[in-house]
This record gives sequence, structure tokens and C-alpha cells, in this order.
Amino acid sequence: MESERVQNIASTFEDTIPEAFVRSEHEQPAITTVHGIDLDVPVIDVSDPDEEKINRLIADASREWGMFQIVNHGIPSEVISKFQGVGRAFFELPQEEKELYAKPPGGKSIEGYGTFLQKEIEGKKGWVDHLFHRIWPPPAINYQFWPKNPPLYREANEEYVKYLHGVVDKLFKSLSLGLGLEEHELREAVGGDELAYLLKINYYPPCPRPDLALGVVAHTDMCSITILVPNDIQGLQACRDGDWYCVRYIPDALVIHIGDQMEILSNGKYKSVFHRTTVTKDKTRMSWPVFLEPPPDLAVGPHPKLVNEKNPPKYKTKKYGEYCYCKLNKIPQ
Ligand code: OGA
Ligand code: NI
Repeated sequence: MESERVQNIASTFEDTIPEAFVRSEHEQPAITTVHGIDLDVPVIDVSDPDEEKINRLIADASREWGMFQIVNHGIPSEVISKFQGVGRAFFELPQEEKELYAKPPGGKSIEGYGTFLQKEIEGKKGWVDHLFHRIWPPPAINYQFWPKNPPLYREANEEYVKYLHGVVDKLFKSLSLGLGLEEHELREAVGGDELAYLLKINYYPPCPRPDLALGVVAHTDMCSITILVPNDIQGLQACRDGDWYCVRYIPDALVIHIGDQMEILSNGKYKSVFHRTTVTKDKTRMSWPVFLEPPPDLAVGPHPKLVNEKNPPKYKTKKYGEYCYCKLNKIPQ
């Protein structure tokens, strides 16, 4: 099991990588990235007193890009750095200690420490390990997947969540208003107080052949909205008109992705962003996305107020749990 962790593979290879990590020519980042241009994903200052303007910018970005970054979001930088620090410290623990949190084999839950998420085509693998656990709401939390080491892990995560609520509320409000809905309606449609915050920590070790490998392969997020903090190593890429561009790293910004459930709820007005990550030769990249997930039994479909005879539903209404099962197993929705 241990030898399957990318962190261990990374420490045993110097100039080459195992064949399973070499992407096809359609995917290799050296060939498929548009070099020299960072994508100007909208950067939105959410502290602007002109709320209507912020709402409009958020809705426009979600329609046109499915991705944006927010600054002056109210989460203090110390809270973010502490949250990142404990996550990094976990991945720096000895392997045996990390394995205590390993995803139970054959288990249905996504939570735990692991590698290789999706059933990949032709057995290809991403250069990344991860830790998943829910951080909200309290009844959805399984503390068995929260590292006990470093000792401040729990406190740092709880503090981050406390501040995250403000950002979550703001995003749902702006996105609702942008569709002509009342401000509470999208939040309700994804489960209201039962909306779960699923944290994933991505750990991308240095890679001897960053030109051939990918971290997380191209995908859209399954959830409603993703709120992500990266470390300062560039690696996130977004697809625009079929080409791949690097997304600029902005210190202290939060990266927001529109996920599949938001595209579905908006009946296609908002776009879930197609994105992937690259790795580097000598630096460890990390990122901390929080996926805002409807409860698994909640059926999500185009919002009833947004469909009529002229605008028929473009997506099926489906329980979120089933949607995820199909997506992870590559079964058509
Ligand atoms: C993901 C993801 C992006 C990143 O884990 O779903 O898209 O910057 N991560 O690590
Ligand atoms: Ni993603």
C-alpha cells in the first residue's frame, strides 16, 4: 500500500517517472499548455461597498468563466496560514502515521488519506496524494479522518470553517440574485443547513518529469461551489476554448469554481469550469479545496423557477449521491 503513495514514488525516482504517470500526447502539459499567458480569470474585491456591483461581477464570472478569485474576503491571512500549516505538517509525518487515516479499502465514503480518486482511462495516474474529510456541519463530521497530529490540526480547521461561512453565504446570495432568484433560494436548493463542506488537501510532490505528468487530471467539480486556497506554487490550469492556461496565483485570494450542481441548478446559465493541475520539478505544491456538497439523498435539478415551456430543463434531476457515483465510475448521467 505504502509504495503506492505518490509521495513515496517521488522520493525514489530522480530523472524518470513510472509509465503509469506519463499522460497521452493530448494531455501532456508541455504540449497542451498555452505558454507565457496567465489566464485573466476575474479577480473580485468582495469588500467593495457597492454590493450590486459585486453581485453582478460574481454572476458574470460564473456565466463566462465558471471560475474567479476573490480578495478581501474577510478570512484573516493568519487563519489561512495556520490552516495550511497543519495540513502541510500532516503530509510531512512519517508514512506509517499518515496511513492511520487511510481510506478504508472497499469503503463507500470518500473520506480519508489516499491516492488515485477516479477510475482512470487506461490505468493512468495523477501525481498527487490527498486527504479528504468533512469540516461542516457537525453531524456530518467523522473525526476519525481528522489527523490528531499536528496537535493544532483540529483547532486550525475549526477556525477556518468559522470564517468560511461568511464567504459561502455571500457566494450563494450573489449567485441566486444573478439568476433573478431570491437570495436564499440557491442555498436552499443545495440542502440549506445540511449543505456539507468537504475538505480535500492535495499534496503534489516534486516530479522529475513535470512536462509529461499531470497532478489532478482535467475535470469539473461535482459539487455546487468549490472554495480553494493554494500554496504559492503555480499549478492550476483552466480550459478556455479548448486550450489550457495557467491561472495566476494571487497571495491571500480564494479561488472559486462553479461546480456541476450549480450548472445544473442554473439550467446551464452558470458553467462548471473544466480545470486540471500541473506539477513542478523541485517544489511541492499543495491546495485546499472545500467542496460545498448537497446531502447525498437530495435531488438536484434545474431550479423550478428557471424552467418553463420556453426554457425546458437541460439536465436531469438526480440525487447528488447518484450523480457522484456515476461520475466517479464513468457511467453516463
Ligand atoms: C481538485 C482540484 C485544483 C488545485 O482537487 O478538484 O481541482 O489547484 N484541485 O489543486
Ligand atoms: Ni477540481
